[in-house]
Amino acid sequence: QHIPVICIDGPTASGKGTIAAEVAKALGYQLLDSGALYRITGLAASRAGLALDDSNEETIAEMALDLPVRFDAQQRVWLGEEDISAAIRSEEAGMNASRVSALPAVRTALVDLQLSFQTLPGLVADGRDMGTVIFPHAPLKVYLWASAQCRAERRHKQLISKGISANIATLLADLEARDARDMNRATAPLKPAEDSLQLDSSEMTIEDVVAQVLSWWQERQ
Ligand code: C5P
Repeated sequence: QHIPVICIDGPTASGKGTIAAEVAKALGYQLLDSGALYRITGLAASRAGLALDDSNEETIAEMALDLPVRFDAQQRVWLGEEDISAAIRSEEAGMNASRVSALPAVRTALVDLQLSFQTLPGLVADGRDMGTVIFPHAPLKVYLWASAQCRAERRHKQLISKGISANIATLLADLEARDARDMNRATAPLKPAEDSLQLDSSEMTIEDVVAQVLSWWQERQ
């Protein structure tokens, strides 16, 4: 049975997560937030006191292989009996995710788990390498981006609205450091798939972006 997949890849804070969730909801599709898997791995490894570098590559990969992870219907993320939804969303968790995700054995360890999200009637997958590595035959691949300044401002607004203090200049620097690491790593670097459609969301609302993705999907039916 052919199970359709829509891939939404792009840099950090480009709005991928929000867009993917909205598109999945509109189509009644399953959602894969692949970044969460790297965030969870980073959290588990740092809690275990491991340095997040290649000296621990195999140990972290083994942890990634049997993470007791579960996403519930409200998109909360569970590690065993613990709701870690908030813990994995911090800037530090994002940076730790970026570190463990640069380790090839960790990426390999998470492949089967990601593939298992491909269930009927379809899947919307967001991340960095959904279209280039994990679902290379997906009929729709979107590369969603926005200027770094714009992404830093969005992230700032988001944090402030949650009552977390933040500084745009610091956010911008962190975001550029994470972009650089994600784009320059040897394994599955962030880059648009050759057959992807690129969308610059800098001047677009969430509704506009969702509508664009849904209309591209319609054209493919
Ligand atoms: O998308 P999100 O910010 O949650 O991803 C956190 C980190 O996980 C990214 O900075 C990236 O390094 C890594 N990642 C990845 N491949 C994916 C998704 C996320 O390497 N498919």
